[in-house]
Amino acid sequence: MNILGIAGSLRKDSYNKKLLAHAAGVAKSLGEDIRIHDLIDLPVYNADVEAAGFPPAVAKFREAVEWADAVVIVTPEYNNSISGVLKNAIDWASTSGNKWSGKVAAIMGGTVGAFGTVLAQAHLRQILVILNVIVVPTPFVYVPRIQDAFDAQGNFTNEIAAKAVEGLLKRLFETTGALKGIGK
Ligand SMILES: Cc1cc2nc3c(=O)[nH]c(=O)nc-3n(C[C@H](O)[C@H](O)[C@H](O)COP(=O)(O)O)c2cc1C
Repeated sequence: MNILGIAGSLRKDSYNKKLLAHAAGVAKSLGEDIRIHDLIDLPVYNADVEAAGFPPAVAKFREAVEWADAVVIVTPEYNNSISGVLKNAIDWASTSGNKWSGKVAAIMGGTVGAFGTVLAQAHLRQILVILNVIVVPTPFVYVPRIQDAFDAQGNFTNEIAAKAVEGLLKRLFETTGALKGIGK
């Protein structure tokens, strides 16, 4: 199955990018590949720009979303919600034909604070529902104090969250397979 992975942070050393990389490794061990698409080239949404034709980076991102059967979205939490970067990317693929429609999504994320993206993920679910995305309900992957969740080699060491990542990905693959008639 075709699985797209995006993280809502542009920073080089983003913990959420590392969490996505961990999820991609887990997916691989389960026999699936996650194609990671960096959001760094996307301009800020502007309907005038859209009217003049999607910029190449936007067109590429929209094609990646269209290609996907399933998406793994890893979000940071900015002021109790998702980052502008992530919302911007979601918006670009939602207009002139909603590319998100019918996708199956697994969402996860981590913060340096104690709540691990609980509020950001609640907002993300709310956004995805209006775009006709089927969000796998549980297990929840909330990673609190994510700055402590990687060892010196970059391995993910939060055992509770690691178990949830594996459980959520299994559900994602099962759900996508059942809905699309594909996969294992
Ligand atoms: C604008 C902004 C708002 C933030 N708001 C929150 C917040 O509401 N809750 C929280 O736990 N952390 C918050 N943080 C801290 C992030 O959890 C932290 O910067 C984290 O490392 C971001 O994810 P990243 O490492 O993937 O870039 C905020 C950070 C920024 C830059």
